[in-house]
Amino acid sequence: MKIFVPLDSASKALGADDVADALAREATARGLDVQIVRNGTRGMVWLEPLVEIDTPEGRIGYGNVTADQVPDLLDGKLNGLGRVDDIDWFARQTRLTFARCGLIDPLDLDDYQANGGLAGLRRALAMTKAQIVQEVLDSGLRGRGGAGFPTGIKWKTVAEVEASQKYIVCNADEGDSGTFADRMIIEGDPFSLIEGMAIAGIGVGATRGYVYLRSEYPDAIHILTQAVRLARQRGLLGADVLGSGRAFDMEVRTGAGAYVCGEETSLLNSLEGKRGTVRAKPPLPAVQGFLGQPTVVNNVISLATVPVIFEKGAKHYADFGLGRSRGTVTLQIAGNVKRGGLFETAFGITLGEVVNDIGGGTASGRPVKAVQVGGPLGAYMPVSKFDTPMGYEEFDQKGGLIGHAGLVVFDDTVDMLHMARFAMEFCAVESCGKCTPCRIGAVRGVETIDRIAQGDAAAIPLLTDLCETMKDGSLCALGGFTPFPVMSALTNFPDDFATFKEAAE
Ligand code: NAI
Ligand code: SF4
Repeated sequence: MKIFVPLDSASKALGADDVADALAREATARGLDVQIVRNGTRGMVWLEPLVEIDTPEGRIGYGNVTADQVPDLLDGKLNGLGRVDDIDWFARQTRLTFARCGLIDPLDLDDYQANGGLAGLRRALAMTKAQIVQEVLDSGLRGRGGAGFPTGIKWKTVAEVEASQKYIVCNADEGDSGTFADRMIIEGDPFSLIEGMAIAGIGVGATRGYVYLRSEYPDAIHILTQAVRLARQRGLLGADVLGSGRAFDMEVRTGAGAYVCGEETSLLNSLEGKRGTVRAKPPLPAVQGFLGQPTVVNNVISLATVPVIFEKGAKHYADFGLGRSRGTVTLQIAGNVKRGGLFETAFGITLGEVVNDIGGGTASGRPVKAVQVGGPLGAYMPVSKFDTPMGYEEFDQKGGLIGHAGLVVFDDTVDMLHMARFAMEFCAVESCGKCTPCRIGAVRGVETIDRIAQGDAAAIPLLTDLCETMKDGSLCALGGFTPFPVMSALTNFPDDFATFKEAAE
């Protein structure tokens, strides 16, 4: 009997290791022939630990299993959820990037290949560099780290610069609150990232890659490090990638916890062993990046999506989506929500569908008041904007941003003035200090919001002015985007800013 118990850090935090241990003990005690496979998560975090038993009918799921329930599970006394593939939340998704996540043993390269793995790299190895870059351009893939810049154009820039050495750098410094897609794919399907980086390297002529992985993700570091070692042993990485005569190798580097090191130039400084401060652009990293050489800096999800684009073809990928947002978006649903987790679907689904239909509304049962989309620098979207479709331009038109596609849901007990203050405080704490609008502005922002809280109406236009200055004058997205949560709180929820003023009057 084959039983799957997830090994990702969310499932572990919810007791998956205890369940796996109890299963091993109980199976030995009963003399059962049980093979325990530690898989990645299927993304239904509200059901974790989700244990799956392989049967002739498919993999049958059991949600929220505890170690105490293991005897009942083996006795067939536990109520199951039916086939995992048929669970509505799962069945409704379009899983391209996450197709294998939760399905396979993350460190089994044979399992990976049996489920479509390496087909993309093999196809890419038969192409010229220009054809590889064109395939990415044709797919319409845009950077999933937040900015949504066309990945193919970035690759083209790097491919066309003459240099003795080029690099692929994967940004795995997933610092946005409420985001976990990077971690999940690394923990659940690390070879997809390795394969994506190898395709990127071969496409732009880079022979070395680095994954800048945050120290807060010890499980991901452990899994990816092992996966890189296995990939090297099996010839997927090294001087002769899959016998093609082309070279690409990579290593994992660990960050030290600064939010701003998710900004690409800070990340590069940190990777070079320097303090993680932002560099002025230009020069773009694509022209002068790591150690001054042309560098592709892509987010984990962008790179991990590349294999499926090459496996199924650019057109297949580009056929999904809305407007200029092609393919799928890996939504991370979190906060005060009934069914949180990772939901991959074509761009175009509305915000309201995600929160109410997929997420099931708030966990508290109270009405939704706001959803912060795109991390701590994202706007707070009110219920009146729930008809906004998930699309880069569509969100932009409504004063929001998709960012890394994290959604944090709040019910009607949230105080938006406090959330605005938190955004400024976050910026003040995480600022690298290089430019004045962010370094000083964020501190003044906290003080100004405190004045509003104490009933000083004159501080409201001051806050608006300050946000304009930070937006226009900051060197990077940290200072430049903090006005999104602050101004969206102020304009969408004016009552939360007026209450205190009126009380004081
Ligand atoms: P950006 O708009 O300055 O640049 C986007 C990317 O395109 C960069 O990699 C840039 O180097 C590249 N690029 C621009 N023009 C190019 C050209 N002609 N050729 C080649 N490459 C070119 O945005 P930035 O500052 O890199 O990122 C801001 C975003 O990061 C925000 O939208 C925010 O949501 C997101 N973010 C994500 C976080 C996460 O945890 N994933 C954390 C913080 C912010
Ligand atoms: Fe540093 Fe803030 Fe300026 Fe970015 S905006 S460069 S984090 S001081």
